[in-house]
Amino acid sequence: MGTFFSEPGWLCLTVTAVLGGTILCKLKTSPGQVGRKVVCLAGLWGGACLISLSLFWGLVLFSLSYFVMYTYFSGQELLPVDQKAVLITGCDSGFGHGLAKYLDELGFTVFAGVLDEQGSGAEELRRTCSKHLSVLQLNITNTQEIQEAYSKVKEKVQNKGLWAVINNAGVLGLPTDGELIPMTEYKRCMAVNFFGAVEVTKAFLPLLRKSKGRLVNISSMAGGVPMQKMAAYGSSKAALIMFSSILRQELSKWGVKVSVIQPGGFKTNISGTSQMWETLERTVLDNLSPEVQEDYGQDYILSERSLLRLMKTCTDPDISPVLLDVRHAISAQSPFAFYAPGKLSYPWLCFASFSPTGIFDYLSRKIYNYDKKMPRVLSTSNWENEAM
Ligand SMILES: NC(=O)c1ccc[n+]([C@@H]2O[C@H](COP(=O)([O-])OP(=O)(O)OC[C@H]3O[C@@H](n4cnc5c(N)ncnc54)[C@H](OP(=O)(O)O)[C@@H]3O)[C@@H](O)[C@H]2O)c1
Repeated sequence: MGTFFSEPGWLCLTVTAVLGGTILCKLKTSPGQVGRKVVCLAGLWGGACLISLSLFWGLVLFSLSYFVMYTYFSGQELLPVDQKAVLITGCDSGFGHGLAKYLDELGFTVFAGVLDEQGSGAEELRRTCSKHLSVLQLNITNTQEIQEAYSKVKEKVQNKGLWAVINNAGVLGLPTDGELIPMTEYKRCMAVNFFGAVEVTKAFLPLLRKSKGRLVNISSMAGGVPMQKMAAYGSSKAALIMFSSILRQELSKWGVKVSVIQPGGFKTNISGTSQMWETLERTVLDNLSPEVQEDYGQDYILSERSLLRLMKTCTDPDISPVLLDVRHAISAQSPFAFYAPGKLSYPWLCFASFSPTGIFDYLSRKIYNYDKKMPRVLSTSNWENEAM
């Protein structure tokens, strides 16, 4: 107690309080996960210092850590919106649709790319958003549509320039064992989630370089965490992460900042409809060799429906963490290279990166064992003996 009431102790306490208060005030203006991360970091660090050191040195280190964080987070202040122009792909539904509305409300000039400009999503955007939002027909797997969208955007922004491109459009494909996923599904996932995003990026980069703007690519937690049944989707999202990371380095000389968003599970149209799943299941069954079909069995293949149900029931309907992180990526003076919105996304990404493979695989098998169904051969016969 003596040390606490000594002069240096009071001094450090005051410095801590002042710096901490200033940071917390700044965080009020900074959206997204920044606030959560700072509070966690500060709490952990402060706790560690106070437990392991004397009160005096604990407070000194605590104050220093606040100072370092203050300097770091002063780069997180948001730039004025100033009707900056942003292009978002995949605005028919889900994150893209939500983002288009959110950024329009904030005062951005939004170019909302849609897969179907006559569809209900596009119609709703036209009906509910301001006159600053333009809906653009933009199938990102179609070179001509990308070029046409580029010409329209260039003509509209004129000298003002395009500030940000948000590559959001994506497809999940049919989540099932990698051996069962048809090649058409692997190619479809790559075509939309990777090549589509790459082509849009290449087309619009001249505008982004001019504005020293932002490129934001929506990948997925599944691009960094190996998840069963996600071989096609996860690989395409992992490719997008690597592409973005390389561009981040290359484009820094142009002043363009690149961020990757890796959301966890949110309730959107990504999980598809029962009708879509039926078609995909049919495609899987039609493409399997008799040998593979015999080994896995139809029941196993059709049981993947439980995953659809899980995705529909266990995911978060509130997509605001994604919207806030994208806003931070396009508005902060120094945006982060990676964002991981969603309850478990960040811990899973850390765990997958740093834990020993054996432990990760064991836990992931336990947690992501969607149902206990096994392939026909493994559940009925003495497979090991047969294999011998
Ligand atoms: N929801 C999640 O839990 C989650 C998690 C991690 C990452 N993500 C990623 O977040 C992004 C948005 O997904 P979401 O969850 O919002 O799902 P969503 O509601 O299905 O939105 C995806 C959008 O992309 C559109 N799209 C599909 N193919 C396209 C193409 N070739 N060209 C242009 N647009 C196309 C879809 O149009 P239609 O509706 O007409 O098909 C849809 O509007 C995706 O990249 C997804 O991989 C989602």
